Amino acid sequence: MTVAPLLVAFAGADAGRWRITSARTLIGPPLPAASHIAISEGTPPALPSNRTFALRGVVGNLRYTNRSERDGLAAIQAGLARPQATRAALIPIRKTPAWWALAQDERRAIFEEQSRHIGIGMAHLPAIARRLHHARELGEPFDFVTWFEYAPEDEASFEALLASLRATPEWAYIDREIDIRLART
Ligand code: HEM
Repeated sequence: MTVAPLLVAFAGADAGRWRITSARTLIGPPLPAASHIAISEGTPPALPSNRTFALRGVVGNLRYTNRSERDGLAAIQAGLARPQATRAALIPIRKTPAWWALAQDERRAIFEEQSRHIGIGMAHLPAIARRLHHARELGEPFDFVTWFEYAPEDEASFEALLASLRATPEWAYIDREIDIRLART
């Protein structure tokens, strides 16, 4: 029996498990304002009717990660919903047509050999828990909806991680990015 990929929807609303503490548009058009993010997992998504926006993505399989990276990640990464992880970041991202015109091996080379995305990220595990949602194939306005959870004392580590990643060649291929920070209600 095949298991369908998990559909996850993040809705901007006036109530929800996570309260928005800041929302910053780094590049591209902004999203409508909201005070909370409500999350729905599964199909069909259960979203608040008064939502101002909804971002959908699926938890897909890994595309770029090689065996040793995969094993390394599995050995140290933390899962979502840890009691102490009361802070989160929701960062939807779109990559440029130039990125999508590249071949798989060229994208992998930019992602890891040039940018060290996994190498940089690994240094921040297990403090930062993460889940990547693929959205491009759903026809969504973003290609990825990224989600991170951490304890308040690990916020500085998360900022350092983002600063490092945003300075990499990979980020030159991003033409829409919105950084939404949250506190658990
Ligand atoms: C993809 C690791 C933090 C954005 C990936 C992949 C890995 C990874 C292994 C590739 C998945 C695959 O094989 O398809 C990590 C680790 C992090 C981290 C260990 C440490 C917490 C971040 C941060 C961002 C980010 C802070 C910024 C929002 C992305 C995006 C992709 C991705 C957009 C998809 C790239 C693509 O498919 O073109 N990450 N990451 N990651 N990550 Fe991270």
